[in-house]
Amino acid sequence: VAQLNTLAQAAGKKYFGTATDNPELSNTSYVAQLRNTADFHQLTPANSMKWDATEPSRGIFTFQGGDQIVALAESNRQLIRGHNCVWHNQLPDWVTSGSFDNATLLSIVENHCVSWDVINEPFNDDGTFRESVFFSTTGTSYITTALRAARAADSQAKLYINDFNIEGRGPKSTAMAQLVKQLQADRVPIDGIGIQGHLIVGEVPPTFAQNLQDLAGLGVEVAITELDIRMTLPATPELLAQQKADYETVIAACKAVDGCVGVTLWDWTGKFSWVPGAFAGEGAACPWDENFVRKPAFQGIVNGW
Ligand code: XIL
Repeated sequence: VAQLNTLAQAAGKKYFGTATDNPELSNTSYVAQLRNTADFHQLTPANSMKWDATEPSRGIFTFQGGDQIVALAESNRQLIRGHNCVWHNQLPDWVTSGSFDNATLLSIVENHCVSWDVINEPFNDDGTFRESVFFSTTGTSYITTALRAARAADSQAKLYINDFNIEGRGPKSTAMAQLVKQLQADRVPIDGIGIQGHLIVGEVPPTFAQNLQDLAGLGVEVAITELDIRMTLPATPELLAQQKADYETVIAACKAVDGCVGVTLWDWTGKFSWVPGAFAGEGAACPWDENFVRKPAFQGIVNGW
């Protein structure tokens, strides 16, 4: 059977990988497959590096959950994408309800950022900045502060801004490009753009490949960071065939763009996918089913590489 990371590396990429989450690690057959580096050379913690997990009280840092996934990856020689530093979701109450002034909130952001998907989802779909607690208090200063703090904490880590609905050309992708250009002009460290890739079967944007090339053309890395392609349930042979084609389209686009360094699934099995919990009536978004059996989508990825 073809192996997804082996193929990605043969195509010149740094990795093919997957998200995973701490509760899943008690499932031994799941972990056995997760450790198969022929498929997965990179792991992203789906929850345990988020702010509510890592700084539940101001200045009190807890890294047990994240460390567990890092340890697993290290023991297995897999890479880690740290996810994430600053996001408007999964924030502890002390941040959202703290009513901090600009300077205080920037110092809180500075203190929190060590590395990783440093900024997560800063934009609205129309390309305006999202009115998070960070933007409404500091404007875009929080982005600069977070990136500089992350670089100071780790000179080696690749620092990304990550978002969804920037898969095709459009106002949000243009806004991301503008932000990166501005950061570059201001000499703020920015190494990469994360394109989440939470897609819908039959709706991969036709400009996907061009858009990847546009963003890579800014001189930063791009990566597909959270790939899954969901459908309205029940899954039918037709939907599964379209899903296979859609996975192939996404992978082939990354393969064709030199600056696209890797692809990460937002978990590989339907058993642990976030989709049914987030989108009512939808699911079957991953290349393996709930029983860890490969679906046509797996072959789509293979074909794409
Ligand atoms: C999701 C996790 O997978 C879920 O377990 C959690 O309940 C909510 O967050 N975009 C992101 C990810 O950047 O952090 C989200 O992960 C999915 C959407």
